[in-house]
Amino acid sequence: MPPDPAVRDELAALTLLAGASPAQLDALLHEMTPGEAPPGQVLGRQGEAGRNFWLVLSGRMSVSVEARSGPVTLAEPGAGSIVGELAVLRDRPRTATVTALTECRFLTGGLAAMGRLVDIDPVRARLRLLASRRLAEDIRPVKVEIRDGSTLLLRPLLPSDRSAFHSAVRAMSPESRRRRFFALRDPSPALVDYLVDIDYVDHFAWVALDAAGRHGLATARYIRAVGSGEAEVAFTTVDGQQGRGIGTMMLGALGVAAVEAGISALVAYVLGENVAMRKVFAKAGGTSRFEEPGVILVTVDAERAAALLEPAARDALRAAVTDVVTAASIALA
Ligand SMILES: CC(C)(COP(=O)(O)OP(=O)(O)OC[C@H]1O[C@@H](n2cnc3c(N)ncnc32)[C@H](O)[C@@H]1OP(=O)(O)O)[C@@H](O)C(=O)NCCC(=O)NCCS
Repeated sequence: MPPDPAVRDELAALTLLAGASPAQLDALLHEMTPGEAPPGQVLGRQGEAGRNFWLVLSGRMSVSVEARSGPVTLAEPGAGSIVGELAVLRDRPRTATVTALTECRFLTGGLAAMGRLVDIDPVRARLRLLASRRLAEDIRPVKVEIRDGSTLLLRPLLPSDRSAFHSAVRAMSPESRRRRFFALRDPSPALVDYLVDIDYVDHFAWVALDAAGRHGLATARYIRAVGSGEAEVAFTTVDGQQGRGIGTMMLGALGVAAVEAGISALVAYVLGENVAMRKVFAKAGGTSRFEEPGVILVTVDAERAAALLEPAARDALRAAVTDVVTAASIALA
């Protein structure tokens, strides 16, 4: 049956599908089925095989998980949203239940429809970002031990960390700020956005929290040079926590994520006087060369950085981030 032109127009208007050609929309529609659901109808249940996903055309759905105290709502996606796509992409059971919250109209499809979606270049890029962000939000913090035996929690930095992150940057001592940003002034809101709204594939950041998960103690990030196996890294440990081995552990954690993302070399521009940072890199066999007066360029092998961690911590971090840093391998789907 030829696609319904009205539905095709609705599809073409979705932000997710911006840039798709009429032929690509027709090919997608060919693999999807229109549907409607009254409020309260369960469309997919947590734990069951995720064989299909939904593109919401109108109305609102609820995405919830079962907790001991009852269902907890994670999101209420509306028109234009894609729902349940991660289970299809990863061929895993659903991690949440999808219910129609209001009268909903949608298109639903399975792996073949997903294939059509990722064939559309701009859509694949949007799905990659969406997948990584949703997966990053889902990660349970990983426990890691530092040298003095204390336990910290590591998880990816999230957009919701923005205000805590900005406060931490503002609270940095002038010395730390100069060493991190090579400048004394407060980073602009645009720079803070850039450092927090990350895609996890080419720009990834860990945050280390205290054992209770309340206070951020350190961040470490890499930013991949476009299309390459090299990434620039940067570290900050809050002033009162420096010298406890947190920076060293963060380099190890960054190494783990980088290796999973296909990055083999980590580079950093470091002020020559920054002995603490140079010492951390030296522990992973970093090599330095003069870059410009006062600045050196350090290169560290990502595998060697990862080897700074105990195997158990390495494995736990790897298991937590593989899907995030590869956007659930969506590029290969
Ligand atoms: C660089 C930085 C991230 C290191 O983090 P950290 O949590 O202190 O790192 P660690 O505790 O694992 O290691 C720091 C090492 O430097 C040593 N160190 C610190 N200051 C030192 C100094 N002035 N002289 C000699 N060694 C020094 C520490 O003793 C420790 O060495 P050790 O493990 O052999 O004892 C942290 O100091 C920081 O945030 N500095 C400000 C921002 C910055 O410089 N960022 C780097 C830009 S890429």
